[in-house]
Amino acid sequence: MSLNARAVFNGRAVLGYTGTMKKPTRVNHPPAVALPPGNRPLVDPIYQSVKFEFDDVDTTLKAGRGEKPGFLYTRVSNPTLRQLELLLAEMQGRDDAIVVGSGVAATSAVFLSLLRQGDHVLGFVETYAPTRRMLSRILSRFGVSLTLLSIDDIAAVERVLAERPTRLVVFESPTNPVTKIADIERLTDSAHRHGALVVLDNTFAGLHNHGQYPVDLYTHSLTKFASGHSDVMGGAIIGRADLIRSIRLDEILIGALLDPHAAFLILRGLKTYFLRYRAMSQAAQQVAEFLATQPQIERVLYPGLKSHPQHELARRQMQDFGGVVTFDLKAGKAAATAFCEALELFGLTASVGSTESLVMAPQMLLAHDLTAEQRQISGVGEGTVRLSIGIEDPADLLADLAQALDRASPKG
Ligand SMILES: Cc1ncc(COP(=O)(O)O)c(C=O)c1O
Repeated sequence: MSLNARAVFNGRAVLGYTGTMKKPTRVNHPPAVALPPGNRPLVDPIYQSVKFEFDDVDTTLKAGRGEKPGFLYTRVSNPTLRQLELLLAEMQGRDDAIVVGSGVAATSAVFLSLLRQGDHVLGFVETYAPTRRMLSRILSRFGVSLTLLSIDDIAAVERVLAERPTRLVVFESPTNPVTKIADIERLTDSAHRHGALVVLDNTFAGLHNHGQYPVDLYTHSLTKFASGHSDVMGGAIIGRADLIRSIRLDEILIGALLDPHAAFLILRGLKTYFLRYRAMSQAAQQVAEFLATQPQIERVLYPGLKSHPQHELARRQMQDFGGVVTFDLKAGKAAATAFCEALELFGLTASVGSTESLVMAPQMLLAHDLTAEQRQISGVGEGTVRLSIGIEDPADLLADLAQALDRASPKG
């Protein structure tokens, strides 16, 4: 606590003896700059402070016990993180949220908090590979078992849930990379009838989709569409207040929190989230329609295409279909490799949801932990290419795709 407080600006005490402070002391207690009453910043400042103080011990102890509002230590809570949490919960239409350092950290927080020894999890072959591996490699060490089904096989879901007590059903929609659409109504209904909680990784669909379903917890990689600019990582768990409260207590001990500066960048990204998501969806539709007419291409998967096997389901569930377009080249792996390398505007890298268009090499999409049968279900082949469409002018993207197709796999 600061002694001899003469005035308080921005909640920070200014010492009465500043004139006599030695410089090494002063640099650690710099002058406070106050905003006069009625004067506000248009953009909220980043609370890039790990520690927050009160003026007396009693209030400090009460805040520490959660009996008084306030902040003490950023691993527990921080105003910039809290602002992001409140905004995300509202966007997804749920009570509360927790923000953490990455999308994977969000998923692992859910698993570590909700799973006990002996629990069974129902996942899917089409689930994001690190989520699958987290369960099969890490959670299995603690006695958690996993069944992998196809997201298309609702009858098998019903059968497994009827046969085995299951704690969590974990899935995505659209799936990564082949954009299969999960039937969320039937999956949540089946899971809840059999006493399982539903966890939906909603990263691809975005924060404005799927809120109408009784999903217990949504996880998001904020690294992608939410922040949008390829310059920050983050993750979120969004859901019912009671579940979030209990996960938060564990998360404080696990410590995979987000940094306030990262939260600020994500908040800044969210200002243009709807504009970006809409622009990406529109451009992705154009790209998918263009690719579907190209003779070198076997099939194009984009939920907005009428030819997509679950187009009608996607239309019922989603407002728009996002920026991920996946397709198979007839000429297979060599042509897919040449195509990725011939693109000039698309970054050859991992991830989706950036302002820049991206392409993922087919070799990086193949899941080596799957059996031959599971690989068949996953829908990823040797010539599968995943595009993430950015916010460039769609005409430029189409021209780049056309020239890369010609160079990689000439017509006829
Ligand atoms: C569907 C999905 N969930 C989670 C993640 C993990 O996100 P992060 O890279 O922020 O940990 C990814 C990353 O590609 C993803 O595609």
